[in-house]
Amino acid sequence: MKGDIGVIGLAVMGQNLILNMNDHGYKVVAHNRTAEKVDEFLQGPAKGTNIVGAYSLQELVDKLESPRKIMLMVRAGDVVDSFIDKLVPLLDKGDIIIDGGNTNFPDTNRRVAALKEKGIHFIGSGVSGGEEGARFGPSIMPGGSPEAWPFVKPIFQAISAKTENDEPCCDWVGNDGAGHFVKMVHNGIEYGDMQLITEAYQFMKDGLGMTHDEMQSVFIEWNKTELNSYLVEITSDILGYKDTDGEPLVEKILDTAGQKGTGKWTGINALDMGIPLTLITESVFARCLSSLKDQRVEAEALFGKKESIVEGDKQVWIEALRQALLASKIISYAQGFMLMREASNENGWDLNYGNVALMWRGGCIIRSAFLSNIRDAYDIDPELSFLGSDSYFKGILENSMSAWRKVAAKSMEVGIPMPSMTSALTFLDGYTTARLPANLLQAQRDYFGAHTYERVDKPKGEFFHTNWTGKGGDVSSTTYNS
Ligand code: 6PG
Repeated sequence: MKGDIGVIGLAVMGQNLILNMNDHGYKVVAHNRTAEKVDEFLQGPAKGTNIVGAYSLQELVDKLESPRKIMLMVRAGDVVDSFIDKLVPLLDKGDIIIDGGNTNFPDTNRRVAALKEKGIHFIGSGVSGGEEGARFGPSIMPGGSPEAWPFVKPIFQAISAKTENDEPCCDWVGNDGAGHFVKMVHNGIEYGDMQLITEAYQFMKDGLGMTHDEMQSVFIEWNKTELNSYLVEITSDILGYKDTDGEPLVEKILDTAGQKGTGKWTGINALDMGIPLTLITESVFARCLSSLKDQRVEAEALFGKKESIVEGDKQVWIEALRQALLASKIISYAQGFMLMREASNENGWDLNYGNVALMWRGGCIIRSAFLSNIRDAYDIDPELSFLGSDSYFKGILENSMSAWRKVAAKSMEVGIPMPSMTSALTFLDGYTTARLPANLLQAQRDYFGAHTYERVDKPKGEFFHTNWTGKGGDVSSTTYNS
């Protein structure tokens, strides 16, 4: 009997996905560039299973049922192209290549188009949930050649995480790089969620002077509220984790954040599309700032930074912080969905936002109870332009407003950096202001560069230029927006 699917790449994600597929009754053919890795896997974790090895790409191709489905679980970038180039001459028309890595979606757009010309179907799929997710149920976000989906669907939906109603956290996202785009936004939101949690932690630790055990209890309690999520849950575990000397391990970790690029791509894409994705972008910059450790140490001494003590009733502050975190999180997701909406319109992807929320409901790093509410919001209005306008989320934003402002103001007053929580509030203030000062900005542009402006008392699309100083000419510059 031939194999149902081949997987190339036996690093941790690849191995776990293969074992997961095997558990669900699929016969998987495993290949790795280094042959010893195949043997190690077959004699180790795959021992006693139906998994078979392939020591060359030809052997892999020969061992697979048609149309062949070959999933690449390799490092994003050139390695993917190199495997595609080697595989294509060995494949038949109608065969399917799947890239399950964290690929930047323009690469997937390109690969789908290039392989289509050769009659090969290509799927670019986000896979989230880390090691454990891959093994026992990840969130899977596939997009690319729609013709390939019916062949891959049973396998992917079988191995994916399931919601409490047993719905698979995997569905077809859309054409081209839509799957990898949605995974990129997932990761951007992940950056935002993580940053917000760390801001709450710093407020509690430095502002309220709380111990790690106290903070752990707070996160345990928060996890029983609307904030219920994987990231809040692991944060409570981390805060309670003691090093060998009995001290909290977290305080021994160097405060410089790493990043592999998906948050940065999300921010770059938002700038390209003109979407005010402020919270995620601030979260990426917060990681960048954290990496300037030596400069920060010097600057703290140079500016003689004082302790940032927050006075007042601790319990009242903790509840205010919870509300500020929840409200900021709503803004982060609202911005992320705005970005997806713009990309969907621009690329003709026809994204189903309720389905995206469902795919993120389980298995992935940002999984949370909150995503069910997002799904409900898009069920009510599939074209909702701002998540915060949905009655459930609007209610939370309104109820949290006063606490959120207090936390933001206090952080500014005492000097606790909370870029994501405060930028979320600033965004909402801007978004809910019918008249912003951009009129003055337009006047400035016209003053120094004759860039023209539209008038509130004239139809939109009519442009005016004023000779502000009496010295300039009446010639305006060409009007265009990037
Ligand atoms: C996931 C994660 C994962 C990502 C890590 C690290 O969905 O399972 O998003 O894909 O690689 O979270 O990302 P950074 O190194 O950029 O923090």
